[in-house]
Amino acid sequence: MLYIVGIGPGSKEYLTQKAMAIVKQAEITVGSKRAIDLFDEINEKIIFNVKDLDEKLEASVNLAKSGKDIAILSTGDPGFSGVLKPIKRIAKSKDFSEDNIKVIPGISSLQLAASENKISWDDANIMTFHGRENIEDILDVINNGKKTIALPSRKVKDMAQFLIDNGIDKNRKAIVCERLSYPDEKIVENTLEEISKSEFTYMCVMVIHEI
Ligand SMILES: C[S@@+](CC[C@H](N)C(=O)[O-])C[C@H]1O[C@@H](n2cnc3c(N)ncnc32)[C@H](O)[C@@H]1O
Repeated sequence: MLYIVGIGPGSKEYLTQKAMAIVKQAEITVGSKRAIDLFDEINEKIIFNVKDLDEKLEASVNLAKSGKDIAILSTGDPGFSGVLKPIKRIAKSKDFSEDNIKVIPGISSLQLAASENKISWDDANIMTFHGRENIEDILDVINNGKKTIALPSRKVKDMAQFLIDNGIDKNRKAIVCERLSYPDEKIVENTLEEISKSEFTYMCVMVIHEI
């Protein structure tokens, strides 16, 4: 079986019992170093990084195909800009049936950003630009009267500048939620103009207020 395990936003507190149980019984667990380090009970492990991600995911599908129990760790929830999409593509190309794949949900960075800011997100615009260069479709929804919660594609400051350059009021307020659940978590509310002049790490969720 190939398990795709959501590990939540990063801190152990948000790891589910289910995720821990799956990893404990898996023969091999595959994930980034920060994901692997969350688990106390783990058997064999394979660590991937941004550069060899595809290669390691392919190897994981091959191992599962050969009959091994494999757990692939995905930050947040696997179905939101996570590992589920590439695994489905690879599984299809290798004739590995989806019946042999099980997805374990995790708490998404999007959910934690919403709860930290007391936002009911059922009517928000939910967008992810992770791994994408073209972010123009945010312009289709940004003024529809709803909050927009987005994973930025590039630096947060560039995203704020992109919005200003495309006619969005530079005084429009947004919240940047950085390194959620970590001890150095930072949540900053400011205007797009101020955000466009500030530095943040890549690990951010952006909430742009409605007008
Ligand atoms: C590959 S995507 C994975 C998203 C993940 N599947 C989820 O549900 O949160 C990675 C992006 O998610 C966001 N992210 C993940 N963990 C985060 C955290 N702890 N705090 C803020 N943003 C986070 C950042 O935008 C990061 O660049």
